[in-house]
Parts: sequence; structure tokens; C-alpha cells
Amino acid sequence: MTALPLPGIKACVFDAYGTLFDFASAARGCRDVLGDNIDKLAALWRDKQLQYTWLRATQGKHADFWQVTGDALDFTLETLGITNEKLRDRLMQLYLTLDTFPEVAGVLDRLKKTGLKLAILSNGSPKMLDAVVKGAKLQGMFDAVLSVEDAGVYKPHPRVYQLALDRLKLPASAISFQSSNAWDAYAASAFGMQVVWCNRYGQRRERLPGKPNREIKSLDELPTLVGMS
Ligand code: LAC
Repeated sequence: MTALPLPGIKACVFDAYGTLFDFASAARGCRDVLGDNIDKLAALWRDKQLQYTWLRATQGKHADFWQVTGDALDFTLETLGITNEKLRDRLMQLYLTLDTFPEVAGVLDRLKKTGLKLAILSNGSPKMLDAVVKGAKLQGMFDAVLSVEDAGVYKPHPRVYQLALDRLKLPASAISFQSSNAWDAYAASAFGMQVVWCNRYGQRRERLPGKPNREIKSLDELPTLVGMS
């Protein structure tokens, strides 16, 4: 894919978990208990969490992301043969104060100075997003922090992507959507947004509707793609 800037961008909308915030940092914060299980726990927890969002969306049985994240953690701990209520609580609390990826604060700052609108659009519940944004000292950076709770269904339902258009009062084509989750990037593209797939995890391309306009490895590459030299 080329590095030519995307035309006509007025706002950058970001996925939260895996894109701005490093969900694996919760498991790393419990290294003393988890030892060699850190990577296994982080991966299975994330996979199960996403599966539960898709399954609940298909079933029409929505529960918020705090519930789903806790359910996925319970499944994961049981799978790994870990029974430790204190560890469960610690991991859940750490999910509220996840690390940002190293480039995030600087990139947001640069984008904000150009006058672009900035927003988060996430599966996270409003409370979870509020906590993680405040924990990272990013409050004030965003024009909107949008939760799927306002749509009552999870990504990749089109109603979720519509939330960004309604709140920012922009057409999809004026929005650059950034996600590290390939399926989320493809879905936003199928919805009509311009999409920068921040492929931090070296995922393969999806065989799904949509086609991200650009692929980058870290958000450091984003400012030039939205028209900053
Ligand atoms: C989110 C998940 C998909 O923040 O990462 O919506």
C-alpha cells in the first residue's frame, strides 16, 4: 500500500483496546503470580473477550464490556487451571489503567495541534473508557469518547460506526478510522470510512467486506497519512 495522504480528512477516530491501549499490560502487571503464563493468559483472554462480543451481538443478548471482559477472564483462568480470586480482581482493575503504546500521546498531540477532531470509538463501556483515558492522562485530547453502549450492540455492527458520524457531524468519507484489529478495520471500511489499519500484531488481511486504505505498523506513521508533512 502507498503512503500517500488520505484526502479530505476532518477527524481521526481510534479504536481503543490494542490500538491506543495495550490490553496485554494487565497480564504483565501480574508477572509475580502469572510467571510464564503472561502471554497465554493475555492472548486467550483477548480472544475470548472478542468472541463473546460477536456471539452476544449475533444472539441479540447484549451485556456491557465489563461483564464480557470478566466472563472471558473467568473462562481463561479456568482453562489455565488458575483459581485465585485476588488475581482476578487485580487483572480486572488493571484493565482500567492499561498502558498506552509508546507513541500514542505524542501522535495525538501532533494531530490535535492541526485542528483535526479526535475521538475514540470502542466496545468499552463508558466507565471503562473514562478510567483508561484518565489513567493515561489523555482527557482533554478527545472531542468525543464513544462507547458501543449508545448503540446497544458490539462492533462490527454498522450502528456502532454510525455513532461517530452522528457525534462528529461528519460524513464517513471525512473520517480516518484507526484500528489494530483487522476485522474492525475492514468493517469500518465496509461502512464507508477511510481506514488506516495499524497492524501492530502482524495480522494477515481479512477475507471480509471492506479494504483498509492504508496499513501501518505503529501510529507514528499516521500524521503524514492524514495530511501533516
Ligand atoms: C475496541 C476493541 C475492539 O476498543 O478493541 O472496540
